[in-house]
Amino acid sequence: MEFIQVVARRRMVREFADEPIPNDVVMKILEVAHRSPSAGHLQPQEFIIVRSAEQKRKLARAALNQMFIAQAPVVVVVCSDTRRNVWRYGKRGRDFYSIIDGAFASMLILLACTNLGLGACFVGAFDDEEVSRVLNLPREVRPIGIIPIGKPAEKPEKLGRRPLKEIIHYEQW
Ligand SMILES: Cc1cc2nc3c(=O)[nH]c(=O)nc-3n(C[C@H](O)[C@H](O)[C@H](O)COP(=O)(O)O)c2cc1C
Repeated sequence: MEFIQVVARRRMVREFADEPIPNDVVMKILEVAHRSPSAGHLQPQEFIIVRSAEQKRKLARAALNQMFIAQAPVVVVVCSDTRRNVWRYGKRGRDFYSIIDGAFASMLILLACTNLGLGACFVGAFDDEEVSRVLNLPREVRPIGIIPIGKPAEKPEKLGRRPLKEIIHYEQW
């Protein structure tokens, strides 16, 4: 698919067919995410692949009961190991760059899924501590996004965007 088509077609998908996603497909997606930039090329991004029904249910509950997460055949949790950001950038690395690095990788996952005809949703509303507990994350590893992935079982409507000319500013706000 043309890049611009991939971007235009991407929607958050929250209903998934009951069809498995093989590991080589997940690897294709993560190879794309692996191209993500990171501040200072410190590469804090870590990807946790979750397939077990029990772990998916626990993640869905930790995400304020967004149970569609548990419906997906596979869930990727994008994390940032803030230790990598901190050693060079201190507080800004921990509180700011780590989130952006994880978000950039997440966006690439979403676009890679669209390119492969798969659906995915970035879920950012979750209880950090609960997600960390479920995944047994080291204290310094911050979960950035929970991304359920599967064959789409819905065609989400295209949402309007604020007019471009309303959000572009020249020289000053
Ligand atoms: C930082 C962030 C957090 C989000 N958290 C959630 C979430 O917890 N649950 C959810 O269903 N969608 C979540 N979304 C998806 C947005 O609701 C979605 O991107 C928006 O409604 C626009 O829809 P579209 O991406 O399909 O165009 C999140 C998106 C972002 C960027």
